[in-house]
Amino acid sequence: MASQSSQWNNNTAFLLAATGSAVGLGNIWGFPYKAGENGGGLFVLLYIFFVITLGLPVFMAEVFIGKKGKSNPVTSIETLAKSSKSSSRWSIVGYGGILASLIIAGYYAVIAGFVINYGFISASGVEAGAAAAVYEAEKANFWEMTFWFSLFLFSSGFVVANGIDKGIDKAMRFLLPMLFVLVIAMVGYGAVAGDFAKGLDYLFSWKAEDFSAGTIQAAIGQAFFSMSIGMGTLMAFGSYMPSNQKVSKASAVVVTADTGVALLAGLAIFPLALGLGFSPNAGDTLVFVTMTEVFAQLGAAGQFIGPLFFFLLAVAAFSSMISILEPSVAFLSQKHSMTRMKATSYVVAFCFLLSLVSVAGHNVWNTLSVGALDNPFEAMKYFADDFLLLLVGTGMSIFVGWRLEKVIDADVMGIQNKFLMNLWVFILKWVSPIFLMVIWTLGNLQILFGIRFF
Ligand code: PHE
Repeated sequence: MASQSSQWNNNTAFLLAATGSAVGLGNIWGFPYKAGENGGGLFVLLYIFFVITLGLPVFMAEVFIGKKGKSNPVTSIETLAKSSKSSSRWSIVGYGGILASLIIAGYYAVIAGFVINYGFISASGVEAGAAAAVYEAEKANFWEMTFWFSLFLFSSGFVVANGIDKGIDKAMRFLLPMLFVLVIAMVGYGAVAGDFAKGLDYLFSWKAEDFSAGTIQAAIGQAFFSMSIGMGTLMAFGSYMPSNQKVSKASAVVVTADTGVALLAGLAIFPLALGLGFSPNAGDTLVFVTMTEVFAQLGAAGQFIGPLFFFLLAVAAFSSMISILEPSVAFLSQKHSMTRMKATSYVVAFCFLLSLVSVAGHNVWNTLSVGALDNPFEAMKYFADDFLLLLVGTGMSIFVGWRLEKVIDADVMGIQNKFLMNLWVFILKWVSPIFLMVIWTLGNLQILFGIRFF
């Protein structure tokens, strides 16, 4: 099999696939709960600020590597390193991305499995006041969790195995419109049944007392995760971009859609939660406990709206999961000359094992701490999201900014304005590496060793 990627035959495929990748649990599960934990408005404004100043430039760098290198994350970087007379060791950035994507796949499938399970739970109706107990019971059930994540993992594997046209493009054409309709419907329902003004205020009002270094870290980490940066996905999808498509424009569209959906998810959840008297600062149980309680309080209407909400989450998670599997499948099939079917089987099998560990982290290994992390699930999440992601993001930024400066092609990028081009390269060279590494160091010192500077 060739080491070069084949290409999508139309310009919307990249937009749909990358948006499907970006919009996921990160937007609808992660963004609202992190905003809730960090006081709402300030987090949201910082988030938007970082999306524009750091996220978009690094996003474009990742897509550029794929588009110019025309292959899987590792081969693309190797090719570009060679053409710019750089060390072939830069490929470690590609391997780092692939490793991160595999670990994310391992825990992402488990949360998505929860989502599907909750679709059924909320349809059958939860008694008011029982949501917390239901959550504990579900978490404790190893086999049930395994059943739901397997269903999710194998179905996404099926799409990926079918290739980039008949699998990914075809699925995204169907999933994305559905996702947007569902999100809008949920916002509409929240506006009618909840307290929209309170929700808006919570999302956008500036509360200076909530500000800390942790808020900045959370906002940057969330922005990168939500935009699917640093896991090879954007390099892989970039390599399938038709040659006449421009990196800058396509990236801006995807990033705007991703941020839009995160805000809409906040507008779907906060008015409902606040309107019914719940505080949205429940942390990562906001969706599974607080929202389930909200649906329980809504009675019969909740039995309809609840499943719809979890269906929305499942659709978003599914299109992201497809994109999380892609970098390693592309790597195995192109670099190790396997059929996509075989490559996908290996990847899915490996993720299955990781997911089992992640499930066990919720129950049988719940108290098995890994270093400073509470259990294997938290450890996987930490290692991929907080440790690898920013590291790979920094690596790509430095690689493109410092090593590929001469290879950067205004035409491929679609940036004709000299000032904008220089600004982009300047951010990649200086701003994002320094900023990301400071945040990375502070965050890791705090998580691993409990050392806090602010
Ligand atoms: N961006 C996705 C989300 O918000 C997750 C993801 C990460 C997808 C990395 C692909 C690669 O849920």
